[in-house]
Amino acid sequence: MLEFRNISFHFPTKRNTIDVLHDVSFTCGEDEIVAVVGPSGCGKSTLLSLATGLRKPTAGDILIDGRPVKGQNRLIGMMFQQSTLLPWRSVVENVELGLEIRGEPKSFRRDKAVTLMRQYGLGGFERKYPHALSGGMQKRAALAQTLAMEPEVLLLDEPFAALDAQTRVVIENDVVKICRAGKRSVLLVTHDISEAISMADRVVVLSRRPGTVKEIFDIPFSRGAKSVADVPAMPEYATYFKRIWDALDISVTGMNETAA
Ligand SMILES: Nc1ncnc2c1ncn2[C@@H]1O[C@H](COP(=O)(O)OP(=O)(O)O)[C@@H](O)[C@H]1O
Ligand SMILES: [Mg+2]
Repeated sequence: MLEFRNISFHFPTKRNTIDVLHDVSFTCGEDEIVAVVGPSGCGKSTLLSLATGLRKPTAGDILIDGRPVKGQNRLIGMMFQQSTLLPWRSVVENVELGLEIRGEPKSFRRDKAVTLMRQYGLGGFERKYPHALSGGMQKRAALAQTLAMEPEVLLLDEPFAALDAQTRVVIENDVVKICRAGKRSVLLVTHDISEAISMADRVVVLSRRPGTVKEIFDIPFSRGAKSVADVPAMPEYATYFKRIWDALDISVTGMNETAA
C-alpha cells in the first residue's frame, strides 16, 4: 500500500519559495487504482516524483507497506506522458532496458521481455525499431518496459493523453487488468474526469497551487464494468462526473496555472 501522510512541498527559488503542495494525505491500497485530478500546475507531477523517492517532501511521509520511500526504489514503476523508447535500440531491447540496468542476466531479461511483448500484442515486433511502431504500440512497449520490473506500485502521469480514442481504451483496460491481476497499487494522474471515473476506485481532487486535497470520491460502480468504455453509459456516471467537476471548480477559476 502507498500512503501519503501530510505531504507538503516547497520549491526554493532565488528570491523566495513556491508552495507547491500543502498537507496532502491519502492512500492507494493493494489492488486499488487511485486517480488524482486537479488544475494544471497544482503539483500532480510533483506528487508522483515525491512518491518515487527521488525527491524529498518538505514535510510529511510517503510510505510503501508502512516503510518510508527513499532513493531508488525497486517497488515503484513510473510512466510519463512523454515516456519514449530509445530510437537506437530495438523494441525488445527497449522492453528489457530496466532489467538490464538492474543487472539481470541476458537470457532472463530477454525471455521476460518477449513474453510481455506477446501479452501486449507486440509479438513479431521484437527486432523492429521504435519508429516502425504506431503510437499505441510504442505506448504499450513503454508500459511493458515498466511492468517488466514488476513494480508493486505503478505511477502513471497522464500516460494516455496523446493516444487515439480506441488505442486509449485498449491500454486503459490493460492497466486495470494488470492492477487487479497483480494486486498492484496504481496511482494515475489525469486531467480527464471521464478516465478517472472509468478506471479508478477512488478519485482525489486537488485544489489549485498549493495543491491540497479538496475532496476524495469513492467510485463504487466502475469496478464491475467489463471495459472502461462501458462506464460512461452506467447510470451513476453523470452524477459522479458532475460532483467531481464541481469540486474542481474549473468553470470559475479556469484550468490555467498562475505565474510562480
Ligand atoms: N523545477 C522547478 N522549479 C520551480 N518550480 C517548479 C519546478 N517544477 C515545477 N514547478 C512548479 O511547481 C508547480 C507544480 O508543478 P507540477 O507538479 O508539474 O504541476 P501539475 O503536474 O499539476 O501540472 C507548478 O506551478 C510549476 O510551475
Ligand atoms: Mg503534470
